[in-house]
Amino acid sequence: MSFEKFHKQNQVQLTKAVDEICQEFVVDEAKLEELTSYFIESMEKGLGQKEENAEYKGLPMIPTFVTGKPNGTEKGVLLAADLGGTNFRVCSVTLSGDHRFSLQQLKSKIPEELLEDEAVTSDELFGYLARRTMVFMKKFHPEYLQNGEKLKLGFTFSYPVNQTSLSSGTLIRWTKGFKIKDTIGKDVVDLYQSQLESQGMPMVRVVALANDTVGTFLSHCYCSLNNGSMTSGEISEPVIGCIFGTGTNGCYMEKIENIKKLSDEQREQLISEGKTEMCINTEWGSFDNDLKHLPTTKYDVDIDQKFSSNPGFHLFEKRVSGMFLGELLRNVLVDLHSRRLIFHQYPDTESLPHRLRTPFDLSSEVLSHIEIDDSSELRETELSLLQSLRLPTTYEERVEIQKLVRAISRRSAYLAAVPISAILIKTGALNKRYHGEVEIGCDGSVVEYYPGFRSMMRHALALSPIGPDGERKVHLCIAKDGSGVGAALCALVA
Ligand code: BGC
Repeated sequence: MSFEKFHKQNQVQLTKAVDEICQEFVVDEAKLEELTSYFIESMEKGLGQKEENAEYKGLPMIPTFVTGKPNGTEKGVLLAADLGGTNFRVCSVTLSGDHRFSLQQLKSKIPEELLEDEAVTSDELFGYLARRTMVFMKKFHPEYLQNGEKLKLGFTFSYPVNQTSLSSGTLIRWTKGFKIKDTIGKDVVDLYQSQLESQGMPMVRVVALANDTVGTFLSHCYCSLNNGSMTSGEISEPVIGCIFGTGTNGCYMEKIENIKKLSDEQREQLISEGKTEMCINTEWGSFDNDLKHLPTTKYDVDIDQKFSSNPGFHLFEKRVSGMFLGELLRNVLVDLHSRRLIFHQYPDTESLPHRLRTPFDLSSEVLSHIEIDDSSELRETELSLLQSLRLPTTYEERVEIQKLVRAISRRSAYLAAVPISAILIKTGALNKRYHGEVEIGCDGSVVEYYPGFRSMMRHALALSPIGPDGERKVHLCIAKDGSGVGAALCALVA
């Protein structure tokens, strides 16, 4: 067979294989409907499920003990600390009571060994957080270190926690890479507070524990009238706080009477204080861990079972969040290569560029470049793959890679619409007022920077059971600095 003919035949086979894979990533209208109604069912179940333990696979639906929404008039100077995907941030937040705030911060990249090493202890991790807090205090608030005046701190902790009050909660499991075993089941506020004290900062009081989605929601509520998202004359209400970044999650206000997992005592106490609602941290990353309805390819199974630190859990997150988009593409490419359909210059898997063989080395940022590459011969894609993976590609290969990227991101954005649609339906938020509109405070690199993510989400919302009429009432707003300002707001009411 001539070289051209061989080449052509190969190309046809690659295209066919890629089209088949892309097809497996499609989420259509019927699937959106099925997933939305299962999400609502899972929310109801989760609200009634009393014991939260590491083995429970359903939707966690964690009560946060945040019982009101800020209205923008809150005032004060507070500290906030934020342990998220890859960074630790300490800030002091000044809320000026007019929907505005100012913020001073110190951001540190969490050392690799704290993330990678299972043998690291909680004290080492929280000791590190306390040391960074000390650096911050010395730089920005030395006066408190000298005069010992108390300073309230809100702690944003972006992992599933079984929250027992506004200021306490035990870690259910790590997500997004952390592996430290002895933190599971411990109260993370106690761990942080005791390290702050042993390092000479008893004046810093950790008074509130907030998930990052809760922070995002509260900060969006605080800023809302100021953020330009409302057209004059319309009434628009913040309903959901959500994150689509390294991980994904969301929270919303639920009627206290519906939160069956609260004890009778807790419920009566809250009602006697005149509270009617509580913010629920859904931990939607764990939606459908039983895989009854989520679309599942063999790549999803491999990533979960072979490469993730929490197999069997957070299966929705593993299809949606930024940590997994690149890993999905990497798995597909390695598979296509093992089927001898792509990268023919490499005879076997071992000879592939090291980064293509290394789990999680392909970042979602690379996908974001490929997604919108319209350069001739897809040169941007070529450069991006060369720079990030040291992987040379042909034009034909790049065309197929771009198709895969778009299939992966589209599935992510379509799935991202499911919890939004479900919460809007469950809470009846779209029908509360005549022409009432709703605001969704969003944060995270994917929703903020991935090209077209929000418009794909909107498209899916219109296809979902809320339909185009519902979709038109939804404002997807970017809520800036949620974890800092939101935690400060939590600390203020504590
Ligand atoms: C965590 C959530 C968090 C989300 C976004 C998930 O992996 O379980 O608690 O809100 O990431 O950061």
